[in-house]
Amino acid sequence: SKAAVVIVAAGRGERAGQGDGPKQYRRIGNRAIIAHTLEAFLAHPNVGHIVVAIHADDHALFHAAASVHSDRVTTVIGGQTRQESVRFGLLALKDSAPDKVLIHDAVRPFADPELIGRTIEAIGERSGALAAVPVADTLKREALGGFVGETVSRAGLHAAQTPQGFPFALILAAHEQAYDSGRLDFTDDAAIAEWARIPVRLVPGSPDNIKLTWARDISMADQILKGSSS
Ligand code: C5P
Repeated sequence: SKAAVVIVAAGRGERAGQGDGPKQYRRIGNRAIIAHTLEAFLAHPNVGHIVVAIHADDHALFHAAASVHSDRVTTVIGGQTRQESVRFGLLALKDSAPDKVLIHDAVRPFADPELIGRTIEAIGERSGALAAVPVADTLKREALGGFVGETVSRAGLHAAQTPQGFPFALILAAHEQAYDSGRLDFTDDAAIAEWARIPVRLVPGSPDNIKLTWARDISMADQILKGSSS
């Protein structure tokens, strides 16, 4: 069976600066970032329905950007936090109740087909899967006064990316439990799974699968796009 997808795109993207509006609607190459992201998932043979969580103010932006009016793509209004936007996206899939769901950030337009495929493959009956890359930099914990307190071993440390995939019923239940418990501070869904004691398997991520957070990331994205000649 095909995996459903929740793409979260309701953030305001203020960290990108310059007040140009939400970064998922900035252009890289000839299209909006979110159009690249949507296309990657729409083109994948193992992907079914896609729910995009957008901000209430962004209907026009979204429909202008995502002119691929596929009947496989629907929108839902997102929430105050990423966690809430994911929960609303999952709730929108409740009636169709897919076996598996992938959750993905709109601001990661470079999820390639292999990455999407191996994340779906790695979802178990009762376990999730997370695209991640080993940490390359040496890590320092800051102490008082801007000095290095200590060096943290990077052995076994990974940086979490998206997509992250889960059995649909388990991750929806985990999100509802987190909400009911007032736990509203999770920054990714693997952390919610961890809290709910759902095992999560690490899947090799991709160094190109960057999250476009800062203004300078946009020019890096243009470089990646040129390199991939797509
Ligand atoms: O803010 P952050 O960098 O964590 O955003 C990651 C993703 O979550 C982005 O694609 C952003 O649009 C989305 N998001 C959301 N709803 C929010 C905040 C962020 O869908 N309230």
